[in-house]
Amino acid sequence: MPTSTYQGLDVLYSHAQIGARVAEMGAQITKDLKGEKLVMVGVLKGAAIFLADLARALDAEATFDFVAVSSYGKGQRSSGAVKLIKDLDEPIEGKNVLIVEDILDTGLTLAYLRKVFLQQHPKTLRIATLLDKPSRRIEKIDADYVGFSIPNLFVIGYGMDYAERYRNLPDICLMSPDHPE
Ligand code: PRP
Repeated sequence: MPTSTYQGLDVLYSHAQIGARVAEMGAQITKDLKGEKLVMVGVLKGAAIFLADLARALDAEATFDFVAVSSYGKGQRSSGAVKLIKDLDEPIEGKNVLIVEDILDTGLTLAYLRKVFLQQHPKTLRIATLLDKPSRRIEKIDADYVGFSIPNLFVIGYGMDYAERYRNLPDICLMSPDHPE
């Protein structure tokens, strides 16, 4: 495994590896759209970087919207307490919607968003996640497009944080339990 040049963090997926995978995902999504328009819905904040890159890997007309869900901490999230704290700006009825996530973990966030969005009757509703941790699933939900399936590792960078830090690292890195604050 290569070692990052910054802060002594180990790189799980380099920016180049991510770029290659995102290009493949973009090509598949473009193909599945069959020339139709897309509304990309990013889940703040972690998905922001992935959405920006995935959008540019599409050969399709795409608009952006963003939602935010309550983050009471993973402990309370595991109790199922997911709440929308920033709703969609525009209605999605009759539209092709792609929820864009950085990571699919317990599935509580996406199961909640899927339920709420389906109530608006989009034409299609699909999910793209850069990372998937299937071993962590509580809610039965799968993404339509998965960048990388990983074991239960604490990952940071490329949008993902530890206490709001590291989101701007270009690579996806591993946060080791003994990493200095
Ligand atoms: C992360 C991630 C997903 C959610 C997935 O968000 O971006 O939204 O957790 O977890 P789940 O499948 O267990 O629901 P986080 O709460 O870390 O907020 P952030 O995106 O602002 O970093």
